[in-house]
Amino acid sequence: MRVDVLTIFPEFFGQVFDFGIIRRAKLAEIVEINVHDIREFTTDKHRMVDDRPFGGGDGMVLKPEPIFAAIENLIGASDRADYPAGTKVVLLSPQGRPLKQALAAEFADETEHMVIICGRYEGVDERVNETLVTDEISIGDYVLSGGEPAAVVLVDAIVRLLPNALGSETSAENDSFSDGMLDYPHYTRPAEFRGMKVPETLLNGNHAEIEKWRRMKALEKTRSVRSDLLKGENGDM
Ligand code: ADE
Repeated sequence: MRVDVLTIFPEFFGQVFDFGIIRRAKLAEIVEINVHDIREFTTDKHRMVDDRPFGGGDGMVLKPEPIFAAIENLIGASDRADYPAGTKVVLLSPQGRPLKQALAAEFADETEHMVIICGRYEGVDERVNETLVTDEISIGDYVLSGGEPAAVVLVDAIVRLLPNALGSETSAENDSFSDGMLDYPHYTRPAEFRGMKVPETLLNGNHAEIEKWRRMKALEKTRSVRSDLLKGENGDM
């Protein structure tokens, strides 16, 4: 998969993709991640990336011209109808469709080239959304000051699901949400720490019992903090 991130704060991404699974996936050429400064695609003297909103109001709106130029440069088309198959252009904003594990899995499966536009300020000129964007995505019901942290979340959630990104010692199958439930609790040595004991079931080597205990704990946890998941109220979880 190739990922291109469009941002007005390229330095924000410094080393953020250089650790753990993402770093390994990059080294193994499972993913290539490039960060681009939207300002590089301006053509005016002042290299303006934003402007005041028509109709008035607070804040600034990201201008369409540099974003259109960037997409044309990266994809070779400036209308989503003309993108090659497997191409996604994501706009990160609180107005988007909520990011869920199922959506991350869908992207990992189907996408060869993903361009991520990090929204800023009061928003992005709507013509970007109308013409260029294939998927407007939100990472949750809260407002960030920009899409940059959300881009990191999205890339991480997708890249770890790419074939061979996780080592053989780990697997995404047991992740929280992969079965519509939260994960069960984990313990490691020592078996007793400051008087706190690891549950007996995990120590006795009976795998059927351990599986049963884990399912029960996952269900207990899910019921107590995320009962919406059990009621199927979470859409495309
Ligand atoms: N930009 C600002 N808030 C956001 C959110 N919740 N998700 C994605 N992008 C955002």
